[in-house]
Amino acid sequence: MSTAAQEKELPWHLQGNWYPVQDELTVSGLEVEGEIPRELNGIYVRNGMNPRSGWSDHWFFGNGMVHGVELADGKASYRNRFVKTPYYEQDMDMLTGIMDPVASPANTHIFQHAGRILTFEEAHIPWQIDRKLGTVGPVDFGGKLNRPFTAHPRICPETGEMLAFGYAPMSEPHLVYYRIDPQGEMVQYEPIDIPRPVMMHDWNVTRNHVIFMDLPIVFSLDHGGFAFKPECGARLGVMPRSGTNADVRWFDIEPCYVFHPLNSHEEGNRLVLYVCRQPRAMVGGLDNVGSNEDTSARLWRWTIDLDAGNVKEEQVDDSPGDFPRIDDRLTGLKARYGYTLGMVPASGSPQYDRWVHKHDLDRGTRTTHDLGENLHGGEPQFVPRTPDSGEDDGFVVTIAHDESTDQSSFFILDAQNIESAPLAKVKLPRRVPYGAHGNWIADA
Ligand SMILES: [Fe+2]
Repeated sequence: MSTAAQEKELPWHLQGNWYPVQDELTVSGLEVEGEIPRELNGIYVRNGMNPRSGWSDHWFFGNGMVHGVELADGKASYRNRFVKTPYYEQDMDMLTGIMDPVASPANTHIFQHAGRILTFEEAHIPWQIDRKLGTVGPVDFGGKLNRPFTAHPRICPETGEMLAFGYAPMSEPHLVYYRIDPQGEMVQYEPIDIPRPVMMHDWNVTRNHVIFMDLPIVFSLDHGGFAFKPECGARLGVMPRSGTNADVRWFDIEPCYVFHPLNSHEEGNRLVLYVCRQPRAMVGGLDNVGSNEDTSARLWRWTIDLDAGNVKEEQVDDSPGDFPRIDDRLTGLKARYGYTLGMVPASGSPQYDRWVHKHDLDRGTRTTHDLGENLHGGEPQFVPRTPDSGEDDGFVVTIAHDESTDQSSFFILDAQNIESAPLAKVKLPRRVPYGAHGNWIADA
């Protein structure tokens, strides 16, 4: 970790447990408190920003580092690796890296699709890694992709397709929709008209539709790249999954920002979206990702009535939280339960809290796991007990950090008894810096 003197000079995203780690470890036989469920065989991989030089100009610009917690027959091991793209190899800054769609930080998310483990960052193309977290190479879908690809694709549990989009603030088209078939072939590349370039971090998918979010973090060279401009308005664009730009219907909503939706589904001619909505975001510019009362996200439900042509907007939970996840087997379908990480409100910079929330969307209730004093969690992911077990029958996993001991642990919670003590707490052999998103990759 940095020295206290150095830390005083550092921006928030390089202080404390945000500060990067440099060594790549492989450690087996980790100490476990409790018992690792025998059903869990696979690897949890979490991505995050981890600048190799120890410096990045912005939280978003650090090199991708993947941390893997591998579970097998009740035992745990750990490994971490940088994602070794040209952005890493040449230690680029973002201004240089942004010019080359291959030079990705690869620092935001990870998904397995069509037999490939892919890492993502939203301004570049995906990069493939292997099961041991070694870097394989860039994925351009046979030369069809040479521009940004979101870090939040959705994999349809019914068709096996990977649905995605890419937004490009500095070049046209500013938005493109991508559909990738279950074999990993890009079968649709559809430019979508939007009135101005905006930051589109995530989106929504239902059984028959995709819903783009044209929300007013607007590209602006005057404000370091992007700034919140509510006067530009906010709209949701609904398109059939195999539709075209001409099919998109736009619906006005109250200006706001959503980094992460939870899930969405269809009820007849209505589309029901659950989102972590914040009234404002990046007010004054890209540097201001800070958290205050009106930039804290809370769970909302947006109901798009395709017949009436309007959107009903309702807050459904009053607790600040983000990093929403559901049982991924219900992506785009009706899910009863969602999981979020509590966020410390009004803390000046994003701060992950000690609370892992489980939301019952049918009842509008919330139950919470308290990770403990001095603990700060990460994105909580639901992992089913078996491929065929019911929606709530499984585990919620997350990597948490203890500020008092500077140690990180991998928590395995019982999804059906989320408030109870963890089923297992795996002591990780090193501090894992706060990061972004992860996924469980079950052994076949
Ligand atoms: Fe994200």
